[in-house]
Amino acid sequence: MSELSVPHLLGIKYLTPEDIELIFNTADNFKDVINRPIKKVPSLRDITIANLFFENSTRTKLSFELAEKRLSADVINFSASSSSVKKGETLIDTVNNILSMKVDMVVMRHPNPGASVFLSERVDARIVNAGDGAHEHPTQALLDSYSIRERLGEVKGKRVLIVGDILHSRVALSNIFALQKLGAEVMVCGPRTLMPKYIESLGVRVEYNLDEALKWCDVANMLRIQLERQDIKYFPSLREYTMMYGLTMDRLDRLNRKDLVIMHPGPINRGVEISSEIADSNQAIILDQVENGVAVRMAVLYLLAEQIKHG
Ligand code: NCD
Repeated sequence: MSELSVPHLLGIKYLTPEDIELIFNTADNFKDVINRPIKKVPSLRDITIANLFFENSTRTKLSFELAEKRLSADVINFSASSSSVKKGETLIDTVNNILSMKVDMVVMRHPNPGASVFLSERVDARIVNAGDGAHEHPTQALLDSYSIRERLGEVKGKRVLIVGDILHSRVALSNIFALQKLGAEVMVCGPRTLMPKYIESLGVRVEYNLDEALKWCDVANMLRIQLERQDIKYFPSLREYTMMYGLTMDRLDRLNRKDLVIMHPGPINRGVEISSEIADSNQAIILDQVENGVAVRMAVLYLLAEQIKHG
């Protein structure tokens, strides 16, 4: 297969396992490219991409921008804090204004779940979801599974644990979909108050005791507490959260330093969900995830642009 089955990347939910394999194989090629002295290829030379960020972001925005530039696309950037959205313009009007400048693709981060699906039904451009509220963050899940495949050879059959604020995390939901499509087993762990009520219907295991969960898994993905999305208090204090759900060397010592692969999507809150010692250890692949993010995003943009070129 050489084409994606979808015209947009709105969520992992809409991808087939074959789509994900195609993205990974394409990313392998781009990973070679970005490790060469000349890191740029002309693949997207006639494509213009708008990065629309209606919510704060550091690494995702930089990663997309770098991916676009390494593919030689023309890039325009927009962030909500400096835009006419503040003057009352609607999302559709904002985007249609940008598209009338002959933009082919839109990469959008938005605080509202479903914003990119909404946009894809109403405007004439390829849409890539860079995170829509607490819903999906598909490129993060792709780069996470890609990084597991790189470290462990394959994703199929691996036991992957996701720890933390499952309720507010788009990274958790997209990871669950991606890992299951690739044949991994998934367990989630966190305080009961941060566990969605429907979680079991997603076919994942649920464990509330982190030590038990760590015994089970090959990979642990430690999530950040999404304080910006929490309108009430979900646990007594960050100190208590760390005692129950923080990954520390003490915890790993109790498991005889089990050779777990440790992941984090960033930004890290050192000393909260993960200790510095662990974050900086050889078991952590956090910076590999960041590196792979550029190659995986290049693959997604390249595959969507191929569809534009072939009509
Ligand atoms: C994540 C996000 O924005 O959802 N970060 C990211 O994309 N690198 C996770 C987070 O903010 O905790």
